[in-house]
Amino acid sequence: MQTPFEYRDGSMFCEDVEVERIAAAEGTPVYLYSASAIRGRFREYDEALSGVPHRVCYAVKANGNLSVLRLLAEAGAGFDIVSGGELYRVTKAGGEAAGVVFAGVGKTRDEIEMALEAGIHSFNCESEAEIALIAALAARLGKQASVAVRVNPDVDAETHPYISTGLKEHKFGINISEIEQVYERARGLAGVRMEGVACHIGSQLLDTSPLIEAAKRLVELVERLRARGFAIKYLDLGGGIGVPYKPDDARPDVAGFLAAIRELVKEHGLTLLFEPGRSIVAEAGALVTRVLYRKPGTGKEFMVVDAAMTELIRPALYGAYHEIVPLRKSRVPGTVTADVVGPVCESADFLAKGRELPQVMPGEYMAVMTAGAYGWVASSNYNARPRAAEVLVEGSEWRVVRRRETYEELIRGEE
Ligand code: LLP
Repeated sequence: MQTPFEYRDGSMFCEDVEVERIAAAEGTPVYLYSASAIRGRFREYDEALSGVPHRVCYAVKANGNLSVLRLLAEAGAGFDIVSGGELYRVTKAGGEAAGVVFAGVGKTRDEIEMALEAGIHSFNCESEAEIALIAALAARLGKQASVAVRVNPDVDAETHPYISTGLKEHKFGINISEIEQVYERARGLAGVRMEGVACHIGSQLLDTSPLIEAAKRLVELVERLRARGFAIKYLDLGGGIGVPYKPDDARPDVAGFLAAIRELVKEHGLTLLFEPGRSIVAEAGALVTRVLYRKPGTGKEFMVVDAAMTELIRPALYGAYHEIVPLRKSRVPGTVTADVVGPVCESADFLAKGRELPQVMPGEYMAVMTAGAYGWVASSNYNARPRAAEVLVEGSEWRVVRRRETYEELIRGEE
């Protein structure tokens, strides 16, 4: 399934559910996700790796809804986490700690202890100070942590600067030229086993060749480390495969990419780990919004909708493009060029700029597409806006997997 969304008789469906029914029943803005699409994307990874030791660790940060995590856990996914909160979510959703890798430059002592006690698979470490802290905490608990150092392979991901991470100037990882010395210095630490190498060079890569280049550099590094006596077992290549947001964006060939990686590692006896987020959930999701007003501006029009940067920050933060389409094919002929804006008091509060759209009228619904990743998870209560509901669709069934926030929840914990 390339996308779970299609028009039937002029009305948009997600799987076998008419999206307008969800919007009418639950109100807007509302996020919806297709369970089959998410499962299908996960299987694409898993099946392309069958026969090689591997684990696909879904990046929880992309969409951490418990029901999404549960369905991935049931499909056999491991999880890539970046905080204690994400570990808590994974555990609550029935995910096994033994399938969890923990990434991030700023793990706190409490988070490390929580992960050690839970018995996660491994830590992807980003500095020597962090390795030392993990070693000390693990030794105190009578444990030994499996550690991979996140390598910065100095490969340009050629993506948006805010989501590019694999160059020397970035805060992530340790430069590839320093790695061997880092492992040597960690050799004597009782609380850690230095048995992996990891990297993640950026996100939303439509061209997978930088990922393959990074993998090559890491496989060479593995052999150099082995020559020094380190029993490296795991190669974690991170996430990063992009999705087509624009109609003419090329769709990366996940199976082809994984076949290339299999080829690269086949003589090296490594267990492969991947941490895909966006490519699993982005296209499975949409944000549905209602048009509130159409407002003429100078030389353009504003379409004011009830979703805002608080629901989907990607356009404001990265100038990201999301397709916006009406739930019902418009009866009014012609198009309008408009900025699609939300109610938040910021000029950066837009979902699209100068977009040619059909004649959608106030009261009608639109869907912001490819919003299943980095959408709801990055939403906020700015302007005291309750966060949107989330709905999971499966076949002809749908259910609310997170209620819309209430005003009472907005002030919870305050005096
Ligand atoms: N592994 C690590 C270490 C990461 O930092 C990330 C994403 C992933 C895996 C998952 O990457 P993916 O497969 O989703 O590309 N908010 C931004 C994206 C931030 C990505 C952060 N790290 C956006 O909306 O585009």
